Amino acid sequence: MEKKYCAIYLSGTGNTEFCVSKLVKLLDENAPIVAIEDAAATSTVGAYENIVLGYPVQFSNAPKMVRDFIIGNKELWKGKNVLCVATMGAFSGDGAGCAARLLKKCGASVSGGLHLKMPDSVCDSKLLKKSDEDKIQTIRRAEEKIELWALKIKSGKSPHDGLGVFAHLCGLFGQRLWLRNKTKNYSDKLKIDKTLCVGCGNCSLVCPMKNLSLENGAISPRGKCTMCYRCISLCPKGAITLVGKRIYEQYRAENYTDKLTDRP
Ligand SMILES: Cc1cc2nc3c(=O)[nH]c(=O)nc-3n(C[C@H](O)[C@H](O)[C@H](O)COP(=O)(O)O)c2cc1C
Repeated sequence: MEKKYCAIYLSGTGNTEFCVSKLVKLLDENAPIVAIEDAAATSTVGAYENIVLGYPVQFSNAPKMVRDFIIGNKELWKGKNVLCVATMGAFSGDGAGCAARLLKKCGASVSGGLHLKMPDSVCDSKLLKKSDEDKIQTIRRAEEKIELWALKIKSGKSPHDGLGVFAHLCGLFGQRLWLRNKTKNYSDKLKIDKTLCVGCGNCSLVCPMKNLSLENGAISPRGKCTMCYRCISLCPKGAITLVGKRIYEQYRAENYTDKLTDRP
């Protein structure tokens, strides 16, 4: 008999949502796919035994919101089988391992770790920017990896990306140790350029943390940013930055995943 799954994900710019949706639909076409900020996320975890948990890697760590979701629902994870799916722009070492270790502490059994390289979501840094064709190729490769692993998982195998000791050391020494202060807490570094902001309130509507409030036509962040870049990628005026000082590209996965229909 086919296993029943659910998927819970955090996705700022759409990469993780795309990957997790694709994977879980191949595993169980009736699986509910729920965003972590959705009120139904907790009850969905409670109702399913097999869970795909997806998130973007941030400075070789799992986002604070994901870590808090795991710890905040500690009692729910006992006896669950969780497949950790981490999307990343380049390399993270132990992206999937970061949530996997927390989940194990909460009594879950980790059924696998899957790393998927996707286009970089950091809109205000030039560092990993690629051409549109490169981005589409990257997404195609991720899609192929998902299809391959969906078949293998169904036949009883499981991916182990990011779960071993070597991956742990790579994540730790590659970035996490040096950049720990960036992911330890929620960020209060979100900047709104008041000369560009028109007070449309879009950012406050899309923020998964409800970190942005619109008062008297002005947006102000509350210092609880989970660094997902959703507001930054969707601001119609490009008025929001976090890591950098100016917008290079407002990345949204759907601008590229919509072009995947012409697969060879
Ligand atoms: C604040 C921040 C930090 C990031 N750090 C890393 C990193 O350490 N390694 C990496 O490979 N990608 C990193 N990325 C890229 C994202 O993990 C990647 O683009 C991810 O697929 C975005 O997923 P999303 O569209 O679901 O939000 C970072 C992105 C952000 C916003």
